[in-house]
Amino acid sequence: MSLPRVFSGMQPTADSLHLGNYLGALTQWVKLQETHDAFYCVVDLHSITADFEPEVLRQRTRVTAAQFLAGGVDPERSTLLVQSHVAAHAELSWVLTCLTGFGEASRMTQFKDKSQRYGTDRSGVGLFTYPMLMAADILLYQSHRVPVGEDQRQHLELTRDLAQRFNTRFGETFVVPEPYIVKGTAKIYDLQTPDKQMSKSLGGSGCLYLLDEPKVNAKKIRSAVTDTGREIRFDPAEKPGISNLLTIYSALSGQTVEQLEAAYDGKGYGDLKKDLAEVFVEFATPFRDKVRQIVADTEGLDAVLARGAERARTVAGETLATAYDRVGF
Ligand code: ADP
Ligand code: NA
Repeated sequence: MSLPRVFSGMQPTADSLHLGNYLGALTQWVKLQETHDAFYCVVDLHSITADFEPEVLRQRTRVTAAQFLAGGVDPERSTLLVQSHVAAHAELSWVLTCLTGFGEASRMTQFKDKSQRYGTDRSGVGLFTYPMLMAADILLYQSHRVPVGEDQRQHLELTRDLAQRFNTRFGETFVVPEPYIVKGTAKIYDLQTPDKQMSKSLGGSGCLYLLDEPKVNAKKIRSAVTDTGREIRFDPAEKPGISNLLTIYSALSGQTVEQLEAAYDGKGYGDLKKDLAEVFVEFATPFRDKVRQIVADTEGLDAVLARGAERARTVAGETLATAYDRVGF
């Protein structure tokens, strides 16, 4: 019996994943690969919708793939691919672009936000057609489930609409994918502004980049914003800073939040931060070493990505051939 398919991707737009990417996405990918036929993609085509430098992009693509591997994505079990290695992504996206209404695409809130932020002259058309490329990524692999954060929900809704539209007009071709959130997925907040999610767009001293010097991150944790109270209690509304630290501590140590609350009963915020800084360093140091090792083995990493691309081309090529045929190509 074949396993349900899952597809997910991350853009190679930073020198390092941050802890939110790791706990909110990568650890879920690692779990999902046990019960799914998973396709995990470094979406480099998407990343050129914003400013980029070719050599930086090339390096980030490799380091991003290396972080997937170091985090536990198993290339024997899952398909790890770089989007630009599989031409079918760009090819199917054109067909889907032609099936998307101009008004429909104009309603995408991410496009509206970003084009407003950058202005229409600095925004490429790729920013507008981004969701159709994302739809192609997902539909090419006949994905049943797509783990997505809130920010990608509208794009997945469009993907479902496009799959249904294509199937209705040209005959059953695509699996209509479902959004999928693994139970217990952590949301990580910025250490300095704990009402906002940790994000590379905020960056700065509230964001823990996994590949940064461990002592830099330890310092960020020790300087995290807390409230003026004394009690170490999980209460996101009243104590967002402390609650965020407890979430991180729990995820990295495997202890439950209740266990941590009990362990820190009567202790101060400083104790919690100091201990969490150590827990983080114990996690990040071997992760960082592993990433470096994987990146240093150029041939080994190339071979893993070549195998992933080959498997991906087989699956995606079959879907594309059917879709092209149905369209009349
Ligand atoms: P960023 O917000 O830093 O640009 P991305 O949008 O590239 O991050 O997100 C990549 C993946 O990481 C997505 O699956 C997203 O849902 C997840 N993710 C990003 N930030 C967080 C966070 N603070 N907490 C949990 N998951 C997150
Ligand atoms: Na984001």
